[in-house]
Amino acid sequence: MIAGTSAAVDLGPVGALDGRDMVRMAPDGWPPLLVYRIDGEIYATSDTCTHATASLSEGELEGHTIVCPVHWAEFDVRTGRPLCFPATRPLETFAVTVEDGRIHVHRKSNGNGGDER
Ligand code: FES
Repeated sequence: MIAGTSAAVDLGPVGALDGRDMVRMAPDGWPPLLVYRIDGEIYATSDTCTHATASLSEGELEGHTIVCPVHWAEFDVRTGRPLCFPATRPLETFAVTVEDGRIHVHRKSNGNGGDER
């Protein structure tokens, strides 16, 4: 467990991201997650757009920005911050650690992703 987090889930080997820059995962008891590898760093957010529940896994990743495939809202995957209309609510983000080559995603203990907005 890392400071400022509560529950964690093992999402399997880092190799799941080989050849891809993002992958959707749906562990039991968690919201659908979108896990990204960008410049060697791994990030995790909710997969569900906060505007109208589209799956962001069907969108485009541009640098650290995920673009929703439905109405083109953009979010910073590092913080969940919405970058443009029509999204106004942040995307939930999760802390990520890699242990023994496996991705562990941790719920931030304030319950809404935990970034300071
Ligand atoms: S559903 Fe994502 S911007 Fe509307």
